[in-house]
Amino acid sequence: MKLSHCHNFQDFRRLAKQRLPYPIFHYIDGAADDEITYRRNSSAYDSVDLVPNILAGVEDVDLSVTVFGKKLALPLYCAPTALQRLFHPDGERAVARAAQKFGTMFGVSSLGTVSVEEIGAMIDTPKMFQFYFHKDRGLNDSLMERARAANFDVLALTVDTITGGNRERDLRTGFTSPPRLTPASLLSFALRPGWAWNYFTHPKFDLPHLSTHVSEGSSLATSIGSYFAKMLDQSMSWKDAEALRAKWNGQFALKGVMSVADARRAVDIGCTGIMVSNHGGRQLDGSRAPFDQLAEIVDAVGDKLDVICEGGIQRGTHVLKALSLGAKACSGGRLYLYALAAAGQPGVERALGQLRAEIERGMKLMGVKSVGELRRENLRFR
Ligand code: LAC
Repeated sequence: MKLSHCHNFQDFRRLAKQRLPYPIFHYIDGAADDEITYRRNSSAYDSVDLVPNILAGVEDVDLSVTVFGKKLALPLYCAPTALQRLFHPDGERAVARAAQKFGTMFGVSSLGTVSVEEIGAMIDTPKMFQFYFHKDRGLNDSLMERARAANFDVLALTVDTITGGNRERDLRTGFTSPPRLTPASLLSFALRPGWAWNYFTHPKFDLPHLSTHVSEGSSLATSIGSYFAKMLDQSMSWKDAEALRAKWNGQFALKGVMSVADARRAVDIGCTGIMVSNHGGRQLDGSRAPFDQLAEIVDAVGDKLDVICEGGIQRGTHVLKALSLGAKACSGGRLYLYALAAAGQPGVERALGQLRAEIERGMKLMGVKSVGELRRENLRFR
């Protein structure tokens, strides 16, 4: 299978599976417990149908949106995800450049593998930093100051990882960051010699935002579940979120809001956005899908902050459905991660290009010329 054979999300997933050692593939592909929420995140979009209008003169359609005060050429952006240099040697560099080409936002994780300084110098399109609240207050201060100095536009505080999700695929494969060299992992590398060559001939794996303060995750192998459970501060409260919000003093979002009550409190502490998200189904299995929860959250706070629908997006029509319900934009991780693993920057560009084409085609077939024309009247729930 080649990149030119990839025409959709599932194709990129198959190619990524061919290229990655299985512990790494299953880290991306897996989710919590029985992965019910993970599957529901995408299937939720199937419970609503689009009702198109016709004869609208759609030769020119405008896909742009304004979120967090920034204009994006697409109503979809690359959500921050961890460990990208494990998936492809270019890691975040590839995704950042691809996002810039498409005029959309790119998110860098605290658990990213390329520094905010390097990404900040590399692209001038909007950038988000995904902040994890650690027990180590010195590390927290360093994360925020580095993101600020690197001119990141949005700080997104992760609020759905207060402890590690139960990722049973990772337990079975023994996945850790960095990968531990065991007989089983060596076998998985030997079965994927292209990946292994890249991994061992490129600069050593590092988590540059963390390794100035802690060795866990960078030089000390740990599972992501135990990193969350051990390193993050489970006492994190609304008071902490409010203090971080005041300290950042710019565009500030909570990433992982699922209830109306929490969305209202996000407004109260001065957030400018929220990601309605369950962390790609990787944390609380059995929790509701972002799309299912979107309407009530938009109704409560949609006029007070930017509501982003995050997770499960595999098609342009998924984006159209979320926007019709009132999301300001959508975001996702796996939608570009498989493509990154499959083929680096050209892969991510191909994935984003296909999603852009699907959104544009879908808007034309819906009879709308701009994202703002998408409305609930164009949806019917089954
Ligand atoms: C995960 C974290 C690192 O879901 O975002 O694995």
